[in-house]
Amino acid sequence: MTGTHQDASIISNKIEINSLDLFYGQFQALKLVDMSVQENMITALIGPSGCGKSTLLRCLNRMNDLIPGVRVKGKVLLDDSDIYDTSIEVAELRKRVGMVFQRPNPFPLSIYDNVVYGLRVAGMRNATRLKEIAEQSLRAAWLWDPLKAKLNHPALELPLDQQQRLCVARLLAVQPEVILMDEPCSALDPIATMKIEELMLELKKKYTIVIVTHNMQQAARVSDFTGYMLLGEMIEFGQTNDVFTKPTKKLTEDYITGKYG
Ligand SMILES: Nc1ncnc2c1ncn2[C@@H]1O[C@H](COP(=O)(O)OP(=O)(O)OP(=O)(O)O)[C@@H](O)[C@H]1O
Ligand SMILES: [Mg+2]
Repeated sequence: MTGTHQDASIISNKIEINSLDLFYGQFQALKLVDMSVQENMITALIGPSGCGKSTLLRCLNRMNDLIPGVRVKGKVLLDDSDIYDTSIEVAELRKRVGMVFQRPNPFPLSIYDNVVYGLRVAGMRNATRLKEIAEQSLRAAWLWDPLKAKLNHPALELPLDQQQRLCVARLLAVQPEVILMDEPCSALDPIATMKIEELMLELKKKYTIVIVTHNMQQAARVSDFTGYMLLGEMIEFGQTNDVFTKPTKKLTEDYITGKYG
């Protein structure tokens, strides 16, 4: 191939979702969802409560597998491989696609033991290497300076915003490719929220991020792409600026102008 034909195919989607349906028992929570997630970009999912944002996010690292009665149809491609293929190692997938939750959920261990947890589970015993990675990960989550002198303190005694960034550091330690965040700031005050948003902008240089947020201003501030969902459907997906300034669907316009939700 030569010239412009080739150029058009260069844009690489880190994740591609094709005609995805998800059922909780009889209830269909996702309906023929299509979406692509570009590498080193922040993609936001917005929409009213119950529209399926968390469900869709959980599909990206198969967290829904843990819920009994869940059935998935359609495709989720990560680097062109279907993550629902039977040959996929789910533990390996969840290392590549890590998740940060609404409530910070550090383990009841020391700060240090939290950061190196995943590495130890993976069998790493080299103390020097563990220390190096812990430092790198804490630095990347902007926690090294405030915490370096108290790595043996219990993680649960940290303020909530540091707990949340510790959860980010714990993910970074196992070198994920994609970071999923489900309303990561909803338990945080505005200053802590700003810090997480700034951190996201830094992290996207190395990682691909998908965030669920109730906060439309947050989506507008941090994301490159936005998907607007309603009742299990992806109503509109596009560049954030377009979705917020010139939505193509009336439903999207009604939502972003605050008519409902
Ligand atoms: N484990 C479950 N079993 C059955 N139904 C579920 C389950 N989890 C979610 N649902 C339903 O699926 C739909 C989508 O839920 P989901 O949590 O994905 O929405 P959401 O957009 O994340 O909402 P919120 O903004 O409130 O977090 C809702 O109708 C919800 O009640
Ligand atoms: Mg949710």
